[in-house]
Amino acid sequence: MALEVNNICFSYPGSPVTAVERVSMKIEKGERVAIIGQNGAGKSTTAKILNNIYQPTGGTVLVDGVDTKGKTTAQIASHVGYVFQNPNDQIFNDDVVKEIEYVLRYWKLPEEEIVRRRDEVLDITGIRPFMSTHPFDIPLPIRKFLTIAVVLATDPDYVILDEPTAGQDNWGRKQLQTVMEYLQNKGKAIITISHDMEFVAENFERVIVMAHKNVIADGDRRDIFYRQEILSDAKVKPPVSTHIAQELHLERRVLNLEELVAALLQGDA
Ligand SMILES: Nc1ncnc2c1ncn2[C@@H]1O[C@H](COP(=O)(O)OP(=O)(O)OP(=O)(O)O)[C@@H](O)[C@H]1O
Ligand SMILES: [Mg+2]
Repeated sequence: MALEVNNICFSYPGSPVTAVERVSMKIEKGERVAIIGQNGAGKSTTAKILNNIYQPTGGTVLVDGVDTKGKTTAQIASHVGYVFQNPNDQIFNDDVVKEIEYVLRYWKLPEEEIVRRRDEVLDITGIRPFMSTHPFDIPLPIRKFLTIAVVLATDPDYVILDEPTAGQDNWGRKQLQTVMEYLQNKGKAIITISHDMEFVAENFERVIVMAHKNVIADGDRRDIFYRQEILSDAKVKPPVSTHIAQELHLERRVLNLEELVAALLQGDA
């Protein structure tokens, strides 16, 4: 069981430049993977191809071994869910409940199943207090959780979260942990696209680095954050604790403050 792209290429209609060029990656069910890299590297475009919002102009997308070519986005939504970088690009209903139930009704699920799923995702994402608010009157960071709720309701095996911590305060970060634990307990793959390296280092074992419309590295977070040539090529800075440890030439490879303190107390320098 895996989500796999092989040598995918894509250009936006009317654009003279390619957005992604021969991108390949394979993500197993249940994995936690972060995709990082500079602005414009092609991260969101890749995610939209994984979710079949865009069909690649070259290459293949396989969901659990099945080619998505010719399938509709609604057919793929039960397997691969994509939470947009900007919630305003995703929301199209004037009502929270309608937005969550939209695809479930399109699929003609039984009424009690629709209600069960809706209630579950309202609680997991913490947006129940905003159930009766117009989606565009909900504060933007919380609006992101509405779009997460919409995707969770479709119960996909692979969930892609595009910049989930952007603009989030402590409430949002805690709620995001609740969402990720829920997905982990259900055995789902979580794929995040992020510029927040603290969040990446803390939560995602595997890190894929994109630059120049392609994947330039793919590996364990502790290896990736110590490959300085890769990070500078992708214009990414490692987590602050990692950066300090590197500046101090500590022997131990650290990813967070606790590990940095432990290394310093051990006299690693
Ligand atoms: N709707 C669009 N129309 C035309 N070009 C686009 C569109 N969306 C993205 N692009 C271009 O495609 C390339 C890849 O963009 P993409 O949004 O996938 O990058 P990204 O890695 O997600 O960047 P960011 O970190 O800024 O979100 C960029 O050159 C971008 O300008
Ligand atoms: Mg993006």
